[in-house]
Amino acid sequence: MKGFVCRQSGEPSVLEYEEVPSRPLDAGEIRIEVRAADAGFHDTLMIAGRYQRKPAFPFIPGEGVAGTVRECGESASGHAVGDRVVARLPSGGGFAEEAIVLAGAAITIPEVVSFAEAAVLSASYATAYQGLVDRAQVCRGEVLLVRGAAGGVGRAAVEIGYALGALVIAAASSPEKLSIARRAGASHLINTTTEDVRGRVLEITEGRGADVIFDTVGTDFKQACLRCVARRGRILVVGFAGGEIPLIPAHYMINKFCAVLGVAMSYATFEKEPAHYRQVIGEVLRMRANARIGPLLVNTVGAGQLVAALGALSSRSSLGSTVLTF
Ligand SMILES: NC(=O)c1ccc[n+]([C@@H]2O[C@H](COP(=O)([O-])OP(=O)(O)OC[C@H]3O[C@@H](n4cnc5c(N)ncnc54)[C@H](OP(=O)(O)O)[C@@H]3O)[C@@H](O)[C@H]2O)c1
Repeated sequence: MKGFVCRQSGEPSVLEYEEVPSRPLDAGEIRIEVRAADAGFHDTLMIAGRYQRKPAFPFIPGEGVAGTVRECGESASGHAVGDRVVARLPSGGGFAEEAIVLAGAAITIPEVVSFAEAAVLSASYATAYQGLVDRAQVCRGEVLLVRGAAGGVGRAAVEIGYALGALVIAAASSPEKLSIARRAGASHLINTTTEDVRGRVLEITEGRGADVIFDTVGTDFKQACLRCVARRGRILVVGFAGGEIPLIPAHYMINKFCAVLGVAMSYATFEKEPAHYRQVIGEVLRMRANARIGPLLVNTVGAGQLVAALGALSSRSSLGSTVLTF
């Protein structure tokens, strides 16, 4: 099989698309013929050696895959050859024509959901769902501010927040990005290049602030999160696409009577928290199958375009989600 191998840290162009050996299955495992693999900002960080988890070289990036079951190992139950499944790979390996997972980690894809959508749902959408539902418990009628609202995870948060009945304020850096967020369900838009996020949030909420803030950016955390969160608000720390990891002054949590919560898909894995894993991925698949969310904004790229698509993620020019297809 072929896969994208990373042998050194650097730009996405360090990836080499080459023949890699398939290994035999261990007991309980299944082999998936990968048809779609999610590609997100965190993959660029991992390739650059700037992610919190630093796999040993050589490694194949990619964590969310969708495809068909090609082979079932001894005692692997629950799936048959040919089944359409999606799974997350806790140690990567998704940017390849085949992936091996424990049978229990493979979740059946509803018929109406495509492979590309399933891969994205298992990644960006599951992240957004974990944050908004499991961590922040967003309620109907609450105000949700999403930063980085046209990115893969941010746009997913806009869509899921809207589906949950929140009033969504989208913050993004250009009119094009904001129009994407509006189509995903945002009713208020803040252009972060020309407007002050705190001022606009307070204006929109008549001084109350946002009940939930979904932050994928990190930069300017004090002004754009701590200073515009409502009393009893919840700030979701999702990522640091802006490049800075903010330090959080703890007195804001007392003064604002608010909570700062971590979002971590590294815990929504079959190996660490199987029930949570199945719940977040199963629920976003159901939401899509029932048309509560979607259509998703998915850029599908073939093997020849992956490096450029990862480059667009690094340079802030990517819109929506990106999926590698085979
Ligand atoms: N906690 C978790 O489990 C988890 C899971 C998946 C991803 N993440 C993290 O979530 C963040 C977003 O991931 P994603 O895949 O949605 O990325 P993405 O599609 O590239 O979106 C990131 C957004 O961040 C904003 N941004 C601000 N400064 C940036 C910069 N210097 N470079 C790039 N983007 C910048 C951009 O929006 P504007 O131009 O509108 O500002 C961009 O649309 C990343 O930090 C990723 O590592 C966390």
